[in-house]
Amino acid sequence: MSQVCVVGTGYVGLTTAVGLAHLGHTVIGADINDEKIATLQAGGVPFVEEGMADLLAEGLRRKRLSFTTDVATAVSKAEFVLLCLPTPQGADGNADLSAVRAAVKSMARHLAADSVVITKSTVPVGSAFEITTLIDRGDVMVVSNPEFLREGTAIHDFMHPDRIVIGAQDQAAAARAVSLYLKLAAPIVVTDPVSAEIIKYVANSFLATKISYANAVARLCEETSADVRDVLLGVGYDTRIGHEFLKPGPGWGGSCFPKDTQALLSLARQYGFEFEPLVGAVAVNDQQKARVVDKIMKLTDKKNPVVGIWGLTFKARTDDIRDSPSIAIAEALIERGAKVVGYDPTVENEIGQITVSSDPYAALDGADVLAVLTEWEEFRWLDAEKAAEAMRGRGVVDARNILSRSNWEHAGFEYVGIGT
Ligand code: UGA
Repeated sequence: MSQVCVVGTGYVGLTTAVGLAHLGHTVIGADINDEKIATLQAGGVPFVEEGMADLLAEGLRRKRLSFTTDVATAVSKAEFVLLCLPTPQGADGNADLSAVRAAVKSMARHLAADSVVITKSTVPVGSAFEITTLIDRGDVMVVSNPEFLREGTAIHDFMHPDRIVIGAQDQAAAARAVSLYLKLAAPIVVTDPVSAEIIKYVANSFLATKISYANAVARLCEETSADVRDVLLGVGYDTRIGHEFLKPGPGWGGSCFPKDTQALLSLARQYGFEFEPLVGAVAVNDQQKARVVDKIMKLTDKKNPVVGIWGLTFKARTDDIRDSPSIAIAEALIERGAKVVGYDPTVENEIGQITVSSDPYAALDGADVLAVLTEWEEFRWLDAEKAAEAMRGRGVVDARNILSRSNWEHAGFEYVGIGT
């Protein structure tokens, strides 16, 4: 078992830290945010993620997991340093590597002899080479090992990966990186660093394209009166296609797909070509949000309607609202004169001009239309009759196709789904 330092304790870093500690490694999580480190040392999880609190408690109890703000000392004792730092979208569409660069520069001389530095969060193509140059030490190897964790199921994804990708110039460094994951039963793809970095962008862009494809199919179903649920059920049973990421919705969002698709488009442009399938996928995604706004506005003749929204996060089982389609849709509604009141199981505070209620029915007080924008399981079971009592209008847009049409129609609602 190895001594590991995880630099950056966000979604990726914390999942990696608690996961590796669970596998038996001794892990120290380092972050410059002292508030976050204090929370973690006390066993608190700063965001919603199923199973995280238990694994954190386990790691702390077994003394396999600790946290610090002293990055230099933490890296000096580690055989492996995993970089899990944010790479936000830069002005040119590419991921911005400045946080990674700054961290690498300040830690380079503190790294232990013969240690391996691993890039884990999504970094621009070519980063492993750039980091190697920045470290400028013959004894330290840099390996690309992209993560494929989904928020909401990150712990499960860590423990049951579809594959592990290791990109290294040096075979010994690759073998050492592989040793971190020996307890996991997953295929391991060992390749060069650039290929590993591209694998991550292509995987996310392909999944985003698949969802956009489903959203375009949903539109076709609406035009032809087909039912998208049956169509995609019939299509997804083809094992070459599969059911996953084939669900239509209000468009994809979050901290990864929007940023990573732009980065891939921008990378292709640097080499003089348009990555056409992705151009289409991004266009469909923008249209999809606008189509949901139109569906909502069509259900009311009020000039300044009141719209109740169930679901503000970018998907269920998270409290993350970064690049959430719900927020984009709410803002577009406000722009068109609507008043918006939202409810979400994990969101408490108002977001810009979006009022947030702590109760799903209170959020519908006097509403003309209800829009369901995130697929929280609990929304399926909310009472249509009670919603009708709270509202003044009778329109519901179910952008995740999770409500029972018959229940809502029975309560007097005009029900509009996506492609159904
Ligand atoms: C995504 C990838 O799925 C992970 O493999 C990857 O590691 C991660 O990005 C990352 O790069 O860090 P995540 O952003 O957490 O994970 O969320 P997803 O579950 O992929 O959902 C992305 C968006 O697509 C959400 O807005 C979701 O509602 C939407 N979606 C997903 C659909 O509209 N339909 C689907 O069938 C699936």
